[in-house]
Amino acid sequence: MKAEAFTSCKATQAMIEKTTREGVTTVFHRVQEKKTCPFGSGGTCCRLCYMGPCRVKDDGQDAGVCGATAETIAARNFCRMIAAGAAAHSDHAREVALVLLAAARGEAPGFEIKDEEKLWAVAQDLGIDPVGKNKNRLAEEVALKVLAEFGQQEGEISFIRRAPQKRQEVWQKLGIIPRGIDREIVEMLHRTHMGVDQEYVHLLLHGMRTALADGWGGSMIATELQDILFGTPVPIRAKVNLGVLKPDHVNIIVHGHEPLLPELILLAVKDEELLAQARAVGAKGINVAGICCTANEILMRKGVPVAGSVLQQELAIATGAVEAMVVDVQCIMQGLGQVARCYHTELFTTSSRARLPGVTHLEFDHHRGLEVAKEIVRRAIARFPQRRKVEIPAEEMDLIAGFSHETIKYILGGRFRASYRPLNDNIINGRIRGVAAVVGCSNPRVRFGDLHATLVRELIANDVLVLVTGCAAINCAKEGLLIPEAAEMAGSGLREVCEAVGMPPVLHCGSCVDNSRLLMAATEIVKEGGLGEDISEVPLCGCAPEWMSEKAIAIGQYFVASGVTVGFGVAFPTTGSAKLSEFVFGGMNEYVGAHWFHEPDPVAMARTIIAHIDAKRKALGIDV
Ligand code: SF4
Ligand code: FE2
Repeated sequence: MKAEAFTSCKATQAMIEKTTREGVTTVFHRVQEKKTCPFGSGGTCCRLCYMGPCRVKDDGQDAGVCGATAETIAARNFCRMIAAGAAAHSDHAREVALVLLAAARGEAPGFEIKDEEKLWAVAQDLGIDPVGKNKNRLAEEVALKVLAEFGQQEGEISFIRRAPQKRQEVWQKLGIIPRGIDREIVEMLHRTHMGVDQEYVHLLLHGMRTALADGWGGSMIATELQDILFGTPVPIRAKVNLGVLKPDHVNIIVHGHEPLLPELILLAVKDEELLAQARAVGAKGINVAGICCTANEILMRKGVPVAGSVLQQELAIATGAVEAMVVDVQCIMQGLGQVARCYHTELFTTSSRARLPGVTHLEFDHHRGLEVAKEIVRRAIARFPQRRKVEIPAEEMDLIAGFSHETIKYILGGRFRASYRPLNDNIINGRIRGVAAVVGCSNPRVRFGDLHATLVRELIANDVLVLVTGCAAINCAKEGLLIPEAAEMAGSGLREVCEAVGMPPVLHCGSCVDNSRLLMAATEIVKEGGLGEDISEVPLCGCAPEWMSEKAIAIGQYFVASGVTVGFGVAFPTTGSAKLSEFVFGGMNEYVGAHWFHEPDPVAMARTIIAHIDAKRKALGIDV
C-alpha cells in the first residue's frame, strides 16, 4: 500500500508505513478491504422492517415489499441520520448542563463558573432575569431552564429567538420551529418507523425541524454552557500534528467531544505530587495533547496542542509514545482497542454511554471528576517505563485558534467599537467577497486533509474569508493556513483586511458543536445591516468536503434550514433517488432559501461556492 495515496500529510504517511511494517491494522488498511454498497450509499437500502431488508431501484417501478418507493426510503434514511446527529450533539449538551447544574450547587469539584458575562447573556436569552442573583444561583437557573428544553412538549426552544426576525418567520410559516429537543428527535424516529410518514417533503420538513433543534438547540447549548464553565475563547497560539508528542514526557491524549474530563486532566497534570512521580520514572514532565473535537475545545480555550484529527487517532498510538488515551463519545474508532494492545498505551473509556471491548473503563462522574482525572494521570505515568520503540514524526505546525463570534467582533471592530460593521463594510466594498464555512470530518475514502486544504486555498485566493471548525479546522491548521502569514496566499482584498488586523484568512471557530457559533456570526452579520434582512441573503456558503458522520448531515441540514447553502463531498446519501435529490439539491430553496449540493472535487466545490457567493452579491446589488 502506498501511504502517499491517502494523504499528503507526511506525519500520517510515516505512521501508515510504520503500522504496515509492524502488521498493525488501522482505518487506512481496513478501508481498502471494504467496498461501499451503491444502494446503501445512495440511500435506497431499507432495513426498517423484516418484510425486508429491501434494496430498491430508482426506476419508477421498483418498491420495497411494503410499497415504499426509492424517494421515501432515501428520505427516511436521511432523516434518521439527522436524528442521530442531533441526538449526539444534544446528548453532549445535556451532559454539560448537568455538570453546570452540579457546579452551581457546589457538587462538582474542579468546575466553576468562569465566564459571568456569557452567563448573563445566556440567562437573558433564556428569559431569565439575572439582576440581583449571584453567579451560582443564576447558573443553577440557566441549567434547569435548558434541561427543561430537552423535554419540553409545546412552545418553542429559546435560542430560536436569537435568529433574524425574517428567518423566524420562514420557520413559523413552515411550522418547523422546534418545540423541545428530545421531542423532535423522538418524533423523527417515530415518523421513519415502518408504515408512518411516507411523503418525502413532509419527512424532510420534520428533518429540518429536528436539525434546527440541534443547531439552535443542543449544539448551541453545548457551546454556550461550555463557555460559561471554561471561558469564551479568545485568539490563542498553539501547535498541531503528531510532532506535538514529546519523546521525553509522559504523553496523554484526550479524544472525543466533551471537554469536561479533559479540563480536569489539565488541572491534574499541574499537581506537584504527580509531576514528581513522572520525574521519578524518568520523564521530564507530562504532556497533554488532543484529537478530534476534544482537541478543538481545549485548544480554543487553553492553547493545548492538537495531535491530529479523526483519522490520526490510531496513528498517534502507533508512535509508541502515548502512555494513555482517554476517550468519551463520538468519532472513537473501535479499532483503537486493537492498536492500543499492540503498544504500551492504556486506553480509557470514560463515558457512561460508551465502552470498547477489552478496554479499561474508568467512568467520569462529575461529583468526583478530579479524582478520576488524577487516577488516569497516575496510570499514564506507570506506563512510561514500558515504552518500546518510539517514533514520533517531526511534523508540527503553528496555528491561531479561538475565534468565537464575540472575538470576531473584537478582532475586526476593535476594542472601542466592537461590532460586525467593519466585516460587513469589507464585504460590501468587495475586499472580502463573502464568507465560507468549511467544516466536518475526514474520510479515508478521499485524500485525507487534501480536499480541505485545496478547497480553502482556492477560496482565500479568491477573497473568501474562511471559517473552520471540527476536523476540517485541524487539517487546515496542519497545512499552515491558520497563521497570519497565510494571508500571503489570499487575494489582494482579503489579504489587506487580514494584514491590517493581523489575523489569518482562515479563522478557527471551534469544535463541531461550535458550528452554532457560525449561526450566531451569520446572525450578527444580518443584524449589523447592509447585507439583507435574512441569513439567506448574505454572501455565505457552507461545506464539508470530507464528511462521514451522521452529525455532519444534521449540521448541514440546520445550516440549510437556516438559509445557508451547503456543499458536501465524498458521496451523498440521497443520490439513489432522483426525486429526493432534486428536492434537496434544488426544491428546498423554495422552502428555506437555501439548498444542498454534492461536489466531490474540491476545486469544483470552490468554484460552486464562489459562484453562489457572487450570485448573492448580485442580488444585493454589491457585485462590484
Ligand atoms: Fe422493505 Fe418497506 Fe420493510 Fe423497508 S419498510 S424493509 S422497504 S418492506
Ligand atoms: Fe467533532
